[in-house]
Amino acid sequence: MPKLTIDGNTVEVAKGATLLEAAQQLGVYIPRYCYHPKLTVSGSCRMCMVEVEKSPKLVTACSTEAADGMIVRTTTDKVKAARKDVLEFLLINHPLDCPICDQAGECSLQDYYMAYSLAKSRFPQGDKARRAKRRAVGPHLVLDNERCILCTRCVRFCAEVTKTSELDVMERADHSYIDLKEGKALDNDYSLNIADLCPVGAFTSRDFRFKTRAWFLKKTSTICLGCATGCLIEAHHHENAVHRIVPRPNAETNTWLCDHGRMTYKAVRAGDRLAKGVIKNGVIDLEPALREVASRIDEAHSAAAVLGSPWLSVEDNAALSRLAGDALKTENFCFDFTAEQGIRDGILINKDPAPNTAGAMLLKAARGGLTLEEFSRRIGAGQIKVVVTEARAAAFIKDVVKASGARLIVFATNKAQIPAGAYATLPYASYFETPGTFINHQGLRRRAEPAVEAQEGVKPLWEMVNKLAVYSGTSLRLHCAEDALKGINF
Ligand code: SF4
Ligand code: SF4
Ligand code: FES
Repeated sequence: MPKLTIDGNTVEVAKGATLLEAAQQLGVYIPRYCYHPKLTVSGSCRMCMVEVEKSPKLVTACSTEAADGMIVRTTTDKVKAARKDVLEFLLINHPLDCPICDQAGECSLQDYYMAYSLAKSRFPQGDKARRAKRRAVGPHLVLDNERCILCTRCVRFCAEVTKTSELDVMERADHSYIDLKEGKALDNDYSLNIADLCPVGAFTSRDFRFKTRAWFLKKTSTICLGCATGCLIEAHHHENAVHRIVPRPNAETNTWLCDHGRMTYKAVRAGDRLAKGVIKNGVIDLEPALREVASRIDEAHSAAAVLGSPWLSVEDNAALSRLAGDALKTENFCFDFTAEQGIRDGILINKDPAPNTAGAMLLKAARGGLTLEEFSRRIGAGQIKVVVTEARAAAFIKDVVKASGARLIVFATNKAQIPAGAYATLPYASYFETPGTFINHQGLRRRAEPAVEAQEGVKPLWEMVNKLAVYSGTSLRLHCAEDALKGINF
């Protein structure tokens, strides 16, 4: 293992590590544009130059392998002058867009200019090269070529990660620009990662553009519930509204996010968000809706049943199991969900679209219940006349419910989720508004954390279950989500 000295401190690194990685190990930050830990090295921007003793010229830290005995300096006058020169070069043609650029506040050009340059431009503003601006390239991105510093991260991402190779550097020298290859559209399933990767405001997200300034955003660490992969994410929000989702890179699951996952936050503020109950097709206040649902459950008596859901947290499924066992006192309940698991595209997207199949199965192991086959059979045989479940889980029993005429009572966050023919729908808070535990396809237990507050009157699902039990004449004594887990070895 090579041992080298960086700014007077000795460090031992793995063979093959670069000077930039060695410095990182010591906590020494080296500025970079083209370098990205998950992409191949390009060594094109020259922002990472450092001095190596006995080397006649400065070297790029991102592409120079650490060697035994090397003496590296990252803060000498020569290095500082080089950084200043690189910035001056990059800024020659960069437009003065900052006041209207979405990247402002999180832009490496701004940050590095303040940290390493502060020089006045020697080039007249009118001489700047003009390039194409604000071009929509694909469903999620806008490209502004004037702002591009040709680091090629976007090109390498499409070539190496999605392997779709939509982008390339066109022309040569100072005529170079990034563009789509002929006949291509930037519509791969991971395109929004390019907006994160782009160190300047050349690629921006069509969804996030002009929503808010980066410095207003608060960040909540949570998880994506778009599929069973369960990527770690940060929800960025301002004034009780989520504005975007970005990855929380981690070694276990994800560096990137898929575009579908990034858009899951939109349901929170969608026009069809439910805050009241729905009986058949009519919207009614929550309390009468609960009363109506409780009456239908009482009427069905021993033919009432509960179906859990792989879209719900472990706590909310546990609350449903308490509803079945303690309030309805029925054996007609089911948490038996199997789905093919595994990454379907070799990158992130899971074959299982539900985020908590593993969590539901864990509940089955703890609480028992019917297999999905037996549950369906009982509906078909008329032994189950009312089913309480989560809206998306109703799809598992849709045909048999339709054939038997059983009543479907669902919990849903949005109107679009309500299955055809549902008798009643009760609203609940989404997992951007309330916490919950989920187990991803790797068996990793993770927490969804609330980023924003739910609309007045919209409660977490466990609380709705608690209310429903009261209307049915039983107290489940659920004061918090964890109460539902009492007695479960989890
Ligand atoms: S568009 Fe952004 S990521 Fe692509 S080369 Fe230009 S600066 Fe780099
Ligand atoms: S792969 Fe799944 S968990 Fe990851 S971002 Fe996409 S939808 Fe979300
Ligand atoms: S980060 Fe090293 S050359 Fe760009």
